[in-house]
Amino acid sequence: MDASQVSQVTEMMYALRNPAGVPTYPIIFIGLGVLTFALHILFVQLMLGTSAITLYGAFNSNPYWRRLGAAMLEIAKVSVSVAIVVGVAPLLFVQVVYDPHWYTSNVLSANWVIGFIIILILAYWAMYYFYFVNGKNQDKTVQPTSRWAMILSLVLMLVVGFIMHSLTSQILHPELWKEWYIQNGVLDYSGSALHAYNPWRFAFFISLAVPVAGGMLVTYRRFKMVREDADHDYLNWAAEVGKKWIKAGSVISTVLYVAWMMTLPETAGDFATSFWGIAGGIAVIFYAVWAQLRLKGEANFCSYMALPMALVVGLVVAISREMLRYGILNDFFHYDFMDYKVVMDWYSTGLFFLTFAIVGGSVLAYFLTIAWKTGQTVGVYTPSAAVNKMGTIAIWIMIIWMIQFFVVGFYIWAK
Ligand code: HEM
Repeated sequence: MDASQVSQVTEMMYALRNPAGVPTYPIIFIGLGVLTFALHILFVQLMLGTSAITLYGAFNSNPYWRRLGAAMLEIAKVSVSVAIVVGVAPLLFVQVVYDPHWYTSNVLSANWVIGFIIILILAYWAMYYFYFVNGKNQDKTVQPTSRWAMILSLVLMLVVGFIMHSLTSQILHPELWKEWYIQNGVLDYSGSALHAYNPWRFAFFISLAVPVAGGMLVTYRRFKMVREDADHDYLNWAAEVGKKWIKAGSVISTVLYVAWMMTLPETAGDFATSFWGIAGGIAVIFYAVWAQLRLKGEANFCSYMALPMALVVGLVVAISREMLRYGILNDFFHYDFMDYKVVMDWYSTGLFFLTFAIVGGSVLAYFLTIAWKTGQTVGVYTPSAAVNKMGTIAIWIMIIWMIQFFVVGFYIWAK
């Protein structure tokens, strides 16, 4: 591309920008976007990895695998919900600072964006169908039925992920947007195509499901071993499988990361050999090294670190991924999200962070306490007075939040 073509693309992107500006510094949106993307992708990987174990267990005659498959289905179910909820957050952030890119990419593939929801619902239903059919079976070592539903669920989840991957990839090619929009001289309004993808990049993000699921297995043993009815042979076996998955999976993911870096578009310049280009790969292989050093034998304390470590690895990868986007759009196409017009709105910025910390914190603390205690109790769990109080406080905080929301809303409206 020559300089005048690049400057046309730069102008086009700036022309598509929202003239209203953004309510706080753009770097805050990007920071939160990276953080929440790391959380999103962790739960996506957890959901895919535990679904794969469920499926493997369902087709295996080994009673340990069958039990593990049934146990991991419980994690998969919850992880889908969390992955979806924490998927919304990076969606909000990316559409604010990269609105010209996100919306163009969405409009170019509108059918897929709408289909995304339907496919996701079907995937979720299929997983629950499998769960309802087999969940009532008390003996977790019998062969589950309706295994097709679990296969369907996993396949559809991967389709959903691929749609996301393609939307993100299209963002990186503003030089091709017009070409995609005008096919053979005719405007294509259909939104029926996914135009860009990189199989290595997609495979890399999906492959991380293996080490992340490994981290889950190590955590699972640690969590369940304190129960009176714990079957230590089974739990130790599960943790050993987990350690293998962390090590082998991290190596596979690192190879795929390198393949991704080797297939970057020319517009990425020398990103692959830059600090962040290399840091992403090192972070992934580091997970294997960490597991080798810190998860020896019983490793009771470090077992609980397996998933937080996966999050740290994911965070480094998320930063690298964001730096790649910035490298292409800013360094090559001269579109800098940092020069977005800021129309400072302290109220909404403050409300956001307070909601996150106080409302999110209190509700999450209550839910996590309940989930933790339930998992470690044999039989029916009855919450203590202190735990019940936590729940009451969380509800009151939400009520106060809603009241302030309407009071401020009416005040502004009446002004
Ligand atoms: C449940 C199935 C899902 C899977 C398997 C999945 C998978 C993925 C993958 C692999 C990526 C990385 C793409 C890349 O960088 O190449 C991604 C990014 C993303 N996903 Fe998901 N996702 C799922 C659901 C969702 C949902 C329900 C939402 C939001 C409502 C969402 C929002 C996002 C966002 C905002 C990004 C980053 C976009 C960007 O930074 O450009 N995802 N997802």
